[in-house]
Amino acid sequence: MITSEEVRKLFINFFEKRGHKNIPSSSLIPSDDLSVLLIPAGMQPLKKYFTGEKNALNDFGTQRLISIQKCFRTTDIDEIGDERHLTFFEMLGNFSFSPVGSDDPSDYSNSGYFKKSAIYWAYEFLIQELGLKIDYVSIFKGENNIPLDEEAKKIWLSLGLSEDQIKLFGREDNFWGPTGDEGPCGPTTEIYVDNIEIWNLVFNEYYQEKNGVLRKLNLRGVDTGMGLERLMKVIQKTETIFETDLFEPLRITLLNLKSDINQRDLRIILDHLRSSVFLISDGVLPSNLERGYILRRILRRLMLKLVKYNLLDYLDQLVLAVKNKFNSIYENLNNYDKIINVIKGEFVSFEKTLRRGLNKFDRIVVYRNREEMIEKLFIMFSSYGLPLDISAEILKERGVFLDNKDLELFQILFKKHQEVSRPTNE
Ligand code: SER
Repeated sequence: MITSEEVRKLFINFFEKRGHKNIPSSSLIPSDDLSVLLIPAGMQPLKKYFTGEKNALNDFGTQRLISIQKCFRTTDIDEIGDERHLTFFEMLGNFSFSPVGSDDPSDYSNSGYFKKSAIYWAYEFLIQELGLKIDYVSIFKGENNIPLDEEAKKIWLSLGLSEDQIKLFGREDNFWGPTGDEGPCGPTTEIYVDNIEIWNLVFNEYYQEKNGVLRKLNLRGVDTGMGLERLMKVIQKTETIFETDLFEPLRITLLNLKSDINQRDLRIILDHLRSSVFLISDGVLPSNLERGYILRRILRRLMLKLVKYNLLDYLDQLVLAVKNKFNSIYENLNNYDKIINVIKGEFVSFEKTLRRGLNKFDRIVVYRNREEMIEKLFIMFSSYGLPLDISAEILKERGVFLDNKDLELFQILFKKHQEVSRPTNE
């Protein structure tokens, strides 16, 4: 069976042979970009090459780059526990910047390319290198004054896909970006294997302004992204991404310690532990602000689950399992002492609150209707310090899901409470 380590090598070799330079993953913390808190995609550190503010030929000697970028998607935090969502993941991507040269897939030079080479190489890599079978692809159907992507369609037909295998979708599904408030973006073609979208090829020809208006760039860029976890799922034919080798030896270590962890909790532990380790190794520390708060939230939810299964004492072993999988790729994971100390520090400061909250929860959160339920959750927060996300997770375990109305009510109670407790000069 092909391992993720082998897939990394195959990807790098394939594209290096075709004139690309492999650049190391950037830190999860953006270096000179305030538009996002954490890097959500492989293209983010390369934004300036798409807009023309920077020139890849000057900086790298080629208009063709590849990376395996560490990514973190904050929007998916509440979805973790299902079969496919992750906060932290790695994204394989090949990129090309203007000016576009011949766009001939047999041109292995350092010039820019566009749709034809991007699609040919994606096809070749999946079919010939990995032995996968494409079920179907999607292309942009044309919407909001942006035309149907006839060119992508023709290219796919020339590769032997039938009309039925080329689905047409609009802005919602087949147009990517921008990340943050503004930036480069464009129509996409997406490749599905085993009914899973595994590779997104973006043709960056537009720039979206802060007010939402799209303008056509004079440049044509290619930004592709293939999540390594999903790719490994289809290669290794596992039931979900969580059984791929990317979560070993952590998954086996956990199951050896506790064989009765339910699927959802297991996935939360796998995801949150891995993402905390990566965030901390890149310099994020828990706090009440921005990325520090994101880390704090996932660490606290992780702690809730470790406490539930009496796994807190095995933290060192679990963190080591993540380190051992990835430290040959990401050297800063070798800073094991720092990582474990940050996690333990957060756990120590939250432990008393969590244990007291768990003790009181069932006695206090007794309710006859939603309103009363939220009032009780507010008491858990205001009198016992239990954060709403932790209460929400405890309820989720019991099949009770908070909706937007519940969250609004909680906010109203929060504001009232602030007003009452604000000191006055009267
Ligand atoms: N930016 C696109 C994505 O993240 C392709 O890399 O899916």
